[in-house]
Amino acid sequence: MNEFEGLLKIIEKKTEKIDTLDDLLNFISQLLHDNIPYYDWVGFYILKEGKLHLGPFSGKPTEHVEINVGEGICGTSAKTLKPVLVSDVTKEDNYLACSVETRSEIVVPIIYNGKFWGEIDIDSDRINAFSEKDRLFLEKISDIIKKLLNHN
Ligand code: SME
Repeated sequence: MNEFEGLLKIIEKKTEKIDTLDDLLNFISQLLHDNIPYYDWVGFYILKEGKLHLGPFSGKPTEHVEINVGEGICGTSAKTLKPVLVSDVTKEDNYLACSVETRSEIVVPIIYNGKFWGEIDIDSDRINAFSEKDRLFLEKISDIIKKLLNHN
């Protein structure tokens, strides 16, 4: 079993005994941040009243607690409903800096009942840190969260 598969198993097990969705998002952000060395900031943005609002996260606090759809990498994913992988944030025009140390970023949307619900956002201090393997891993996490949305 590779590390991603192991973490997915832990998250799946946790869903059996979690009380609220917020608890699960907190658990996931901490678990990924603490176990994957290049995941330096892990958080969720949730769409409410047309804007992205910062949800549970692990890593340094960010000033970007509210983001407009279309703005930055997070807003781009919310607008296109597609994952966004940025290998070098210094080359990205539509980028909102959370930390001067961040070098690359991945955002994976959580689409629920055909609509954008929220997203998983990961920043890395390493350049070109993320690959399709991370995308697949985060999409599987998104699927687990969606199952819980059904019960909330
Ligand atoms: N860099 C993001 C903003 C969120 S922070 O990474 C936490 C963006 O460009 O949308």
